Amino acid sequence: MTHTPTPTPASAGMHRPSPSIWATAQTTGPAQRRGRYVPESVGHPAKMLPAIAAHAIAHYTRPGEVVLDPMCGIGTTLVEAMHQSRRAVGVEYEAHWAEIAAANTRLATRQGAGGRAVVINGDARRVEHLAPQDVRGRVALVVTSPPYGASVHGQILTTRDTGTPKIAKYADSYGPDHRDRGNLANTGPDLLTAFTRILAGCRALLRPGGHIVITTRPWRHLGELVDLPCATIAAGEAAGLIPVERCIALLAGLRDGELVARPTFFALKNVRDARTAGIPQHLIVHEDVIVLRRPNPT
Ligand SMILES: C[S@@+](CC[C@H](N)C(=O)[O-])C[C@H]1O[C@@H](n2cnc3c(N)ncnc32)[C@H](O)[C@@H]1O
Repeated sequence: MTHTPTPTPASAGMHRPSPSIWATAQTTGPAQRRGRYVPESVGHPAKMLPAIAAHAIAHYTRPGEVVLDPMCGIGTTLVEAMHQSRRAVGVEYEAHWAEIAAANTRLATRQGAGGRAVVINGDARRVEHLAPQDVRGRVALVVTSPPYGASVHGQILTTRDTGTPKIAKYADSYGPDHRDRGNLANTGPDLLTAFTRILAGCRALLRPGGHIVITTRPWRHLGELVDLPCATIAAGEAAGLIPVERCIALLAGLRDGELVARPTFFALKNVRDARTAGIPQHLIVHEDVIVLRRPNPT
């Protein structure tokens, strides 16, 4: 997997011509998780590909170091950190996903992972108070992704009960209450304010020079492109972090130099619908990876 970071100054240098490309989807998400994650994990609407977390951990940390995910979902960052003998800390707002994350970390332990992990059910806007106090100033890496773009989330259910095939969505929701604004998925325009708060808390926990890796992607709201990657960089700067790299994590396989796209049903449907309506949309087969760093003391 290629990853050749070049020294990058603050945000001006984020637009350099040749970003690192991470070949993180040589196998599908379900294949990467099979046997390594409990089956209930499938119900989460926006899981990170395990290979993305694994690559970030291998690249930015060493065995024994501390890795944090303040919005850990089913615990992908934690499980991959444990398998690389790191210590992992996860925070998750929804009790259901926090329980599944804990189950996944127990499975990793049973499978002989050399690291250990703790999962905390709470609001990451208080992450600096929720994390064990002995990790304050010692976290080497944060790997996380904010909730976004519900239009591509969910699994499909096909029924032919009435004789006519029907497609329905399931597993497309983060929590039981869509009005609960404690979950960033429900905060609407306040998402970036809340995310900036979480990044500031992570900054307090990071060691000087420690990194934050955030996966995100542009998405569409009522047809309009929402440039979440650029907004994420701005949120990081507002939280006192330095943008150092912008990489690409492939969601498509690479075969003989060609991309093999594996879109979700809904991503494909959205693009087809847009094209039918005359809007020349393309299928997005990557996530943007924003890398930020805590400044060293001067
Ligand atoms: C994009 S998902 C992360 C998925 C995770 N990387 C994984 O692989 O499972 C974002 C997660 O953030 C959680 N979340 C939203 N608001 C939160 C908050 N205030 N504090 C902690 N977690 C939150 C959501 O419930 C969701 O599980």
